[in-house]
Amino acid sequence: MRLTHYLTGAELTGTETAALLRRARELKAAPLHSRALAGASVALIFERPSTRTRVSFEVGVSELGGHPVILRGEEMQLSRGESLRDTALVLSRHVAAIGIRTGPDETVEELAAHASVPVINLLTRDHHPCQALADLLTLDEEFGHLDGLKLAYVGDGNNVARSLAIVGARVGVTVAVAAPPGHQLDPVAGAILTDDPYEAVAGANAVYTDVWVSMNDAPETAAARREALAPYRLDGRLLAAAAPGAIALHCLPAHPGEEITEEVLYGERQRIWNQAENRRHAQKALLERLISGPPA
Ligand code: CP
Ligand code: NVA
Repeated sequence: MRLTHYLTGAELTGTETAALLRRARELKAAPLHSRALAGASVALIFERPSTRTRVSFEVGVSELGGHPVILRGEEMQLSRGESLRDTALVLSRHVAAIGIRTGPDETVEELAAHASVPVINLLTRDHHPCQALADLLTLDEEFGHLDGLKLAYVGDGNNVARSLAIVGARVGVTVAVAAPPGHQLDPVAGAILTDDPYEAVAGANAVYTDVWVSMNDAPETAAARREALAPYRLDGRLLAAAAPGAIALHCLPAHPGEEITEEVLYGERQRIWNQAENRRHAQKALLERLISGPPA
């Protein structure tokens, strides 16, 4: 079987991604049905904080019959200078897959280059593909299809925006990203880039936002970011300018009053807490796909 990593979301085709999302819906309906990881372990390295990613992967691996090995970066020999290459070689002798949350994308690329098991990006500075899978699952549940939908992302053109644009394009979702100058997403095939939030949300089936200061951003840039991004807050007025029936999404953690209002975060159009749950179902389908291979 060909070794497939999941570092940016571009590693699976649109057809493969759509199949994975169908499988995620099956797994959501019957969470203990698959024992795809029986007897296997999965290493999950965290060099940055996490609530959702850690819990959803840890519980998801257990539900698949496997054993999650949580590794905090500062407790590993990596923190004392052991190479990524040696870490990959050793972990590959013990586990069926390796997940890592870190800063530079080069770190996950280096780990993947030397691992003989699949490596999964649990968030880097530039990518968060597992989040995008859960977000697309949430859209699919809401609308019954993905092809032809429009998702507006309003705020910082960050890792979450990039992964939505990359993975969304694969399954026929048009992603429009509205961000101020200096915080815009670099071009992604198929994505619409603008600095006007109202242009982005026009006709959109979902309006998405994320924090204005990410884990891998320099803390000293926080004040300037908040000032530049203030006109991009997801509030009731912006949501009302989207298509009728549009839903509000946020990958969490949220900062109510900053990038999203409480009214939207807890309002009737949000599907944010479903999104958080869907991390587990989407990632279980991903683990099955990467470890067991494509369905026969
Ligand atoms: N959305 C997300 O990745 O959350 P955590 O940072 O809590 O894992
Ligand atoms: N953009 C955010 C996402 C958190 C899940 C960050 O990188 O901190």
